[in-house]
Amino acid sequence: MFIANVEINGYACLAPMAGVADLAVRTISREHGACYAVGEMTSAKGVSMGSQKSAELLACDEARPFAVQLFGTDPGCIREAAAQAAEGKPDIIDINMGCPAPKIVSGGAGSALLKNLPLAAEIVKAAVEGAGGIPVTAKIRKGYEAGDDVAVKAAQTVEQAGAAAITIHGRTRAQMYSPPVDVGCIARVKQAVSVPVIGNGDIFTAQDAKNMFEMTGCDLVMIGRGALGNPWLFNEINALMKGEPMPESPTLERRLAVMRREIELLIADKGERVGFREARKHVGWYMTGLRGAAALRRLCGMINGWEDIEEICRTAREENI
Ligand SMILES: Cc1cc2nc3c(=O)[nH]c(=O)nc-3n(C[C@H](O)[C@H](O)[C@H](O)COP(=O)(O)O)c2cc1C
Repeated sequence: MFIANVEINGYACLAPMAGVADLAVRTISREHGACYAVGEMTSAKGVSMGSQKSAELLACDEARPFAVQLFGTDPGCIREAAAQAAEGKPDIIDINMGCPAPKIVSGGAGSALLKNLPLAAEIVKAAVEGAGGIPVTAKIRKGYEAGDDVAVKAAQTVEQAGAAAITIHGRTRAQMYSPPVDVGCIARVKQAVSVPVIGNGDIFTAQDAKNMFEMTGCDLVMIGRGALGNPWLFNEINALMKGEPMPESPTLERRLAVMRREIELLIADKGERVGFREARKHVGWYMTGLRGAAALRRLCGMINGWEDIEEICRTAREENI
């Protein structure tokens, strides 16, 4: 499928996840079949005010296509941030209209934009102006309050404002991350717009992804939490969608090897001090589903270096052979 002139060749992409889907997770996901990835949300205000941290979040991955994501409420800041983001040559600039976090919605950004669609439209228009030809997309939810369903209206609004694709997470802001995901609203959005639609929410297995395609007609699925510690999900989805045999589940040794590579990438990106601290959660994801996972995850909380990670690998082997 194409988002404007950008070809996305595959079935499943990695969701933006602030503080979680960092360069290491994105790289591992791409190596295991993710066809596209969106970087962590970045404050447009921060970018326009010259914040170093915001500028770093706009760095583009080598693996393409890659999108950076902006959030904000001020069209002027968004225009300026999109222009700065464009200098790094991302393939796509995505606008966050789905984040439920109190510190984001209290300022009117993220999913709060679903309550103010005229502003949402202005923001997309400003991003398009700043982006200088790089396609702009929007990521929305079903609505803000429990029971809201503004997805179709929001999708049509951002499409008219110039969005080249729409990702929809089939939950309201009030739901945060609790079930259910309303695939019906994703299907209605797909019917209502002519730009590509990316379906998102609660895809944890290849069959979940197939169901999302079949029930919504979406053009691509986006995976968030289901990819953490389980990058194999992407190629499982690819195989199921292509009608190919399901790849074998990774052995414990393979799992531990990919986990170690993820930590190496993390340390290469963030340095040892931050890297080993953040490795605590990364290693924890890879322990999910193993025998003794609860105890293994407790050990993860104490990671300070490679020897601690090796100790966890040894314990995982003892428990799981
Ligand atoms: C820890 C975390 C951070 C997230 N950060 C972002 C973000 O920066 N931008 C965004 O649009 N969505 C963000 N999301 C939402 C995800 O992109 C995705 O829409 C949501 O997790 C639902 O997909 P899933 O059920 O596959 O996890 C985040 C979700 C999580 C769990």
